[in-house]
Amino acid sequence: MTQAHPTTAPTDPAPVTVLGLGDMGRSLARAFLAVGHPTTVWNRSPGKGEDVVALGAVRAASAEEAVRASGLVVVCLVDYDASDAVLEPLAEALRGRVLVNLTSDTPARSRQAAAWAAKHALSYLDGAIMVPVDVVGSAEALVFHSGDRAAFAAHEATLKALGAPATFLGEDHGLAAAYDMAMLDFFYGAMGGLVHAFALARAEGIDGASLAPYLGTIAHILPPIAAYTATDVDTRTYANDGGNLAMMAASVDHILHTSKDHGLDVSQLAGLKSVTDRAIAEGHGTSSWSSIVEVIAADR
Ligand SMILES: NC(=O)c1ccc[n+]([C@@H]2O[C@H](COP(=O)([O-])OP(=O)(O)OC[C@H]3O[C@@H](n4cnc5c(N)ncnc54)[C@H](OP(=O)(O)O)[C@@H]3O)[C@@H](O)[C@H]2O)c1
Repeated sequence: MTQAHPTTAPTDPAPVTVLGLGDMGRSLARAFLAVGHPTTVWNRSPGKGEDVVALGAVRAASAEEAVRASGLVVVCLVDYDASDAVLEPLAEALRGRVLVNLTSDTPARSRQAAAWAAKHALSYLDGAIMVPVDVVGSAEALVFHSGDRAAFAAHEATLKALGAPATFLGEDHGLAAAYDMAMLDFFYGAMGGLVHAFALARAEGIDGASLAPYLGTIAHILPPIAAYTATDVDTRTYANDGGNLAMMAASVDHILHTSKDHGLDVSQLAGLKSVTDRAIAEGHGTSSWSSIVEVIAADR
């Protein structure tokens, strides 16, 4: 897999440890190795990561040995149950180093991990990787960090190997996960709609290859919609600019009926229909689509 690195290699690349050699852990190790960081790796199960060892990574015999090899320790496992299980016995070994947890989970779990790190006087950065494995290390890679600002500043040059600029969101350790969850909320909503669209098309006798070339039209209108939706939501003003909620809710209803006619699962659409119905009942029929936030949000 080719990774185009956005940064020039540091003159004296710092040693890095990567705990976890799943798809993403191996990608992180490759990105560090590609700009010359001496990289030590460890994985719970043996037999993973031969590819990164072949690229020059040193395989440690234990997680503790891996931690003691570097001043910067990056962990990337399936979830925080896993990272807690690996890290909790390592508090002593982690002292004096910087721990960066790039595992994805909830903001609450990130803050719990930060409280554990604070109890053991550890420098802790939380993080979230917002791109697939083959984008890590490229100019398009987005990796969020939050937590210990001084630790970030000290290791920013190394963390840029994963994607430059490395993005520091603030000192609340839960922020990286909070941005992660919001972005994945958008992503999985879109991914659910995408697959449903193919199912609906298939039910109408249209194969995926016939529909796919036209879907870019929808994808390309989303960036400007995201920008003005942000303004609507932040200002809580929902002036429609050529597309009112009642009209768009009718579209949702048409998709729902078409799907029902074909016996498709309509749970996603029914949820959306319920939200639009409630917003209209609350008087937002002539407002913009973004006004549905007023029935979704808990703080209304
Ligand atoms: N893959 C992506 O495209 C992508 C993109 C963005 C973010 N992420 C995030 O990156 C993280 C890792 O994803 P991945 O794709 O690398 O997942 P993966 O390929 O499924 O690897 C999971 C890793 O977690 C380890 N693990 C699971 N349970 C464990 C436990 N109880 N104790 C110790 N280690 C345990 C596995 O070790 P074993 O080998 O021993 O099972 C393996 O190293 C996730 O939080 C994911 O959301 C992934």
